This record gives sequence, C-alpha cells and structure tokens, in this order.
Amino acid sequence: MPKSPFRTLDDMPSVKGRRILVRVDFNVPVDDQGRITDDTRIRGALDTLRELSQKGARVVVASHRGRPKDWSGASLDIAAERLGELMGQPVAFVDDIVGEKAHAACERMGDGEVLVLQNLRYEPGEKKADSEFARQLAGLADFYVNDAFGTAHRGDASVALVPTLRPGYAGRLLARELDALQGLVDGARRPYWAVVGGSKVSDKVGLIGALLDRVDGLAVGGGMANTFLAAQGFDMGASKVEQDAVATAAEILDRADQAGIPVLLPTRVVAAQGFAPDAPSREAAPGDLRADEMALDVSPAAVDEMLEAMAGAATVLWNGPMGVFEWERFQGGTLRMAEGLAALPAHVVVGGGDSVAAVSRAGIAERLAHVSTGGGAALELLEGKTLPGVRALIHSPRG
Ligand code: 3PG
Repeated sequence: MPKSPFRTLDDMPSVKGRRILVRVDFNVPVDDQGRITDDTRIRGALDTLRELSQKGARVVVASHRGRPKDWSGASLDIAAERLGELMGQPVAFVDDIVGEKAHAACERMGDGEVLVLQNLRYEPGEKKADSEFARQLAGLADFYVNDAFGTAHRGDASVALVPTLRPGYAGRLLARELDALQGLVDGARRPYWAVVGGSKVSDKVGLIGALLDRVDGLAVGGGMANTFLAAQGFDMGASKVEQDAVATAAEILDRADQAGIPVLLPTRVVAAQGFAPDAPSREAAPGDLRADEMALDVSPAAVDEMLEAMAGAATVLWNGPMGVFEWERFQGGTLRMAEGLAALPAHVVVGGGDSVAAVSRAGIAERLAHVSTGGGAALELLEGKTLPGVRALIHSPRG
C-alpha cells in the first residue's frame, strides 16, 4: 500500500504525559428525551481514544453536535457520558471550550485521562474558521489528532486550522475511512458496481457523475428513481418527481448509455395511496401507477433483479436507501438490498448517512467490508474531492 500523504498515530512521538487534542465527530442522533439513539460515531472513535489513553496521553476530546446558535442545547455532556460507558473508564466533561474552566480542567489531567470539551459550535469562531479561536484551541494541547471523518469536509477552525498550528495526525477511524473510500476513487477491483438511492437526484448529481467515470454498472433506487423513470417517459402518478432534475436524469442516462454502462432502474415499485406510514399499497410496474398512487419503495423482487445483475461484482458501493425505510411498510426494498449485498462475495462499502442507518436496521454491518460514519464527507470524497480536514493534515507542521 502506498504511504499516506499525512501522518497517522503510527508516526507520533512518545505521547506519555503529553496533551493531545482529538477532534472527533460526536454529532450523534438524539431523541426527544435527549437520549442518544445511535452511538456508532462514538464507537468509531474508540480505537484512537483507547490507544492514546493506554499510551499515557492526556486526551482532550473536542467535537460539535448539531448546529446550535449560542451556549444552549446540544450539550456534549451526553456524549461524554456514553464515551465513559464505552471506554469503561471515567471520562470528565467540562462546560467550557477555551476559557479558564477548560484550561484548569486540562491542567488537572493525569496521564491516560480523558476530558471532553463542550460543543465546539457554542463558539461562533468554530464555524467561521476564526484564526484566534483556532489559536486558543491549539493552545490546549501539544499535538492534534483528527478522527472526525464525518466532519472532514468542513473548513471549521478545529478541522482545517488547528492542524496548521500543532503537529497533526490522522486517527484510526479517519485513516480507515480514507483507506476504504479513497480506495474506490483511486481504483476499485472490477467489476465495480454502485447502488445509489435516496430521495433527490439533485443531491447526488456530483456523485453519479463521478461514478460514471469509474463503475461498470449502476443501480438506482429510492425517491430519485422516480425522476429517472419520468425521464424515460413513464407516468409516475402522484410520485415525487423532481421536475427540474428530469433533464439532468436524462443526461445521466444518455452519458451512461454512450459509455456502455448499464443503469438499472426499478422494474416494480411499491405504490402507496398517499405519503403516510400506513397508506394502503400494492406492487406495480412504473407506468401502471394510478393518478393518486406514489412509489415509496422498490419492490423486493425488483431489488433481486438488480442483485442478480451485479452477482459477479468484485466491488460494490451502496449509497442511499431504496425507499422510505423509516416506515415498516416501505422498508422491504432497502432491507432486501442490505441482505443481498451482505450475501455477495464482493467487497461491499456503504457510505452516506441514510444507507448506514439502513445497514444498522438490517443488522448486517459486520458482514460488509466497510460502513462509513460519514454522510456529506463520504459523498464529497467519493466525488473525488480532497477534504479540508485531510488537506490540513497533509500540510501540518512536523512534531
Ligand atoms: C455530519 O453529520 O454530516 C457532520 O457531523 C457534519 O455536520 P454539519 O453538516 O452540521 O457540518
């Protein structure tokens, strides 16, 4: 494997007794009662945090959560608590970021101890990439580690500036994510298929455009398939069709056709009478939908056809669900895709928020080569962009 252009934990000097600022992505979903509903991102950072703590570093953990406007809501205390449970050791929390309280808490730390700072976005300087805020944050530690893959596409102070002020290293999660996803960009084993779903074509134009330069076949599902089917001339009844993206969908189909890349669209959908979890539904072929019916899922049998077509794939990327999988009645297509991909002998990588949730729901994460913790970050990387967080590590000063 070629040497990465940035340094990782393997390149760090001795960290015993040194303070390390670790940028993680603890932007986790939380329910109405303030409880974390999915701690995948916290688990994702465990390897790095455990390793540094076991080596005797004083580990200062920093993250954002949500998009708060001021010092209220979206506190990181709940993430600190969960981190303590998962690490099986006390994890301290300070309701401060770069002020006196944070400094005092950092000074008090012993070797191997872990401290979580308050939500970075309570400070406006974080999103504004303010250089003074970055300087203050960097002042808390000797070294910087980025393990926040999910935020690596942001130019925020803690992501893009702090590593220019302290020697910066990629954490285990960031390195793993880059390896898996960049590997698909640089040269996946062929045949390489992509399964793209989700609600909107307009959100995925960049991704599909980039994929058409690389894949041997493409399967499209989810709400966006309606727009592609409309572009092929099917009457999709009351389905959500993005009228202003129909021409784009037609261009994509055209480009794929000229390049000889098959694009598989659903041959049968689950058609519902209204957009509701309990809407009466039936299976129908595109074009056979009644005026009051909308496609809310790809029928499992049509998913099977897609899976059959990619049976010989060496690599598969999956991004985006096949339907409204949050509703039991319309999750059959997504779950069938998850099960089918897990059963393929291919190297299967799942990237992008909602499909990851679908993989968790199907309980098949362990059977896949890689499940990304990144949503927007995974998409931008797969589009072939260099993420600001990664660029900053490449140019970070040496320790
Ligand atoms: C994400 O969930 O995509 C990351 O944590 C980034 O969050 P943001 O979209 O609020 O910048």
